[in-house]
Amino acid sequence: MSHRVLTGITTTGTLHLGNYVGAIRPAIEASRAPGVESFFFMADFHALIKCDEPDRIARSSRAIAATWLAAGLDPQRVTFYRQSDIPEIPELTWLLNCVTAKGQMNRAHAYKAAVDAAVAAGEEPDANVTMGLFSYPVLMAADILMFNAHRVPVGKDQVQHIEMTRDIAQRFNHLFGQGEALFTLPEAQVDAEMELLPGLDGRKMSKSYDNVIPLFEGGAQALKDAVARIVTDSRLPGEPKEPEGQALVTLYDAFATPEQRAAFRAALRGGLGWGEAKQQLVAQIEGQIGPMRARYDELMAHPEQLEAILQAGAARARAIAGPFLQRLRAAVGLRPYTSTAATAVAKTAKAALPVFKQYREADGKFYFKLLSAGGELLLQSQGFEQGREAGQWVARLKREGLVAGAPVQRETDEAAIAAALAAFQDE
Ligand code: TRP
Repeated sequence: MSHRVLTGITTTGTLHLGNYVGAIRPAIEASRAPGVESFFFMADFHALIKCDEPDRIARSSRAIAATWLAAGLDPQRVTFYRQSDIPEIPELTWLLNCVTAKGQMNRAHAYKAAVDAAVAAGEEPDANVTMGLFSYPVLMAADILMFNAHRVPVGKDQVQHIEMTRDIAQRFNHLFGQGEALFTLPEAQVDAEMELLPGLDGRKMSKSYDNVIPLFEGGAQALKDAVARIVTDSRLPGEPKEPEGQALVTLYDAFATPEQRAAFRAALRGGLGWGEAKQQLVAQIEGQIGPMRARYDELMAHPEQLEAILQAGAARARAIAGPFLQRLRAAVGLRPYTSTAATAVAKTAKAALPVFKQYREADGKFYFKLLSAGGELLLQSQGFEQGREAGQWVARLKREGLVAGAPVQRETDEAAIAAALAAFQDE
C-alpha cells in the first residue's frame, strides 16, 4: 500500500505567510512525490471548539479551501475535503471515545492550559472548558485513524495528540482487532521548517503576536505595507550590514534560490539600504504569491467551483471511510441481526491466537519467532547460545510488548506486531 499522509487546518482565521511556508507549501510539494497518498482537510468541526461566530467559521473555511487550491494543491492527486462533510468521522469519534481513558485526556495540553488559566483567574478549574475542548484529541484521533494515515505533518504543539492517537488506536486494536491491526499507528512529522518563519518583529510569525504578513488577504498592497513594518537595525544606506539574524533575510530565504540568497547577503554586506532590500523582498515574495493570488481571487468569486471540488473530495473520502466504518462497527458488535456469519467468524478468529515458536537451528543456536493467528511471520529473533535466554525474551515480550532493544527483527508493520503481542497480556 502507498504511504498515507494526512493533515488538517482548523478553520478559524485566514492564513499568513508563515502558514504557507511552514505547512501549505511543503505539504503540496510532498503530495507530488510518487507513492504518497495525501489527505488534506478543513478541520471545521475543530473550529467549533474555539469559535462561536458562525459567519467567521464559514468565511474562514472557504478562504482556506481557496488558499490550498490557489497554492497548487491538485484535487485529482490529493483527497481534499471538509471534515464536516464526512459523517463517518463523528461516528468514529464515538467509538474511540468509548475506549479512551479520561485520565489520559486530563493530561492534554489544551485542556490543562484552560484549567491553569481559570485557576490563575480565581475561577473553578473547569470554568471555561466545554466537552468539545476536553475531548478534542479524540476527534483528532478519528480524523487520522479514519484514513489509516501513516504520517501526520503537524506543529510541535500537536505531537502529544499524535501520541494519544497511537494509544487510542492500540487499545482499540487490542480490544477489537482479534490479533489483526484495524488501525495503523501514525507517526508525527515535525519539520524544522514549520517553526522557522519569523514575523515582522523577528519572533515566530503568529496571529497572537500581531506580527504576520498576510498571504492573499488585502492583495499586493497589504504585502507591501506589512514588509514596510519589518524591524531592522538602524544602519543607513551605504553602511555594510550583517544579514544573519535579520528577520528580513530569513523571510527572503524562504522564497529564494541558494544563488539569490548569497547575492542578497553580499548586497547587504556591500551597503544595500534596508528600504531597497524591502522592495527586493516584496518582489521576491510577489513573484511566487502573485500568480496564486489571481487564482485565489477567482475561487473566492466563484464559490460554486470551490463547492464542486469539495463535494468531489468528500465523495472520494467517504468511499474509503464508509466501508471501513462498517468494518469497525462490526468489530465492536454493531451488526445487522441477520449477520450471524460475522458472529461465527469472530468466534473462530478469537480462538486462534498468535504464537511464539522456539527452536534450534543447524548452527546450534536457539531461536524464536512470533507468528500471527493466521501464520504470518511477525518477529524473528537473533540466535542465542542458551535456550534459556530465548525463553526469557519470549516471556518478556509477552509481558511487556515490543520493548526497545529486543533482539528481534520486525518482519511486518509495528501495529500488527503490537496487536499480536497485546493478545498475550489477556492470557
Ligand atoms: N488540531 C490541529 C491544529 O490545531 C488541526 C487538526 C485537526 C489536525 N485534525 C487534524 C492536524 C488531524 C493533523 C491531523 O493544528
